[in-house]
Amino acid sequence: MTAGTAGVGAGEGGGVEAHHDAPHVPIFAGKVKERLDALFPKYPTKQACLLPALWMAQEARGWISPGALTEVAAVLGLTPAYVRGVVTFYTMYHTHPVGRHFIQVCTTSPCHLCGSDDVLTALLRETGCGELGATSADGRFTVIEVECLGACGFPTPILIGDDFIESVTPERISGILQGYK
Ligand code: FES
Repeated sequence: MTAGTAGVGAGEGGGVEAHHDAPHVPIFAGKVKERLDALFPKYPTKQACLLPALWMAQEARGWISPGALTEVAAVLGLTPAYVRGVVTFYTMYHTHPVGRHFIQVCTTSPCHLCGSDDVLTALLRETGCGELGATSADGRFTVIEVECLGACGFPTPILIGDDFIESVTPERISGILQGYK
């Protein structure tokens, strides 16, 4: 997915783990390295594994920190500048720390006409984020708006981590958020 389109958040069980950068703990070691090594034969070159390698780094650290970016470059034999160019092209990669639960709200025209702005406003208020892209003080949430999530018949769809939730209304938000600690 490219800049300006919806990206799917990382993390399992509905949330992105927001870790601080920890360069003394290598990302590509143990099971993570095994997962990466298992991918290599499936791609024409090692460097072609860049997107999944970045995904693994984001799973491990919560975002693509400068240190994580350097580790990805090193493990694939790429330059950090090349990796940075890819990271900044795709909105699915976080270039700054985000909350444990990364929320994406469709505000494209069909959903906009059905009230997505009200959903977004309620989400920003009830998560405590206050504004788009900001993280709530308790570190739980980050909310962004994105383009069509492919569920135009069920406005307003939102993604919380990997959880796809349709037909969200302002009234449902409080109950939905209770499932994300
Ligand atoms: S316009 Fe919102 S899901 Fe398509």
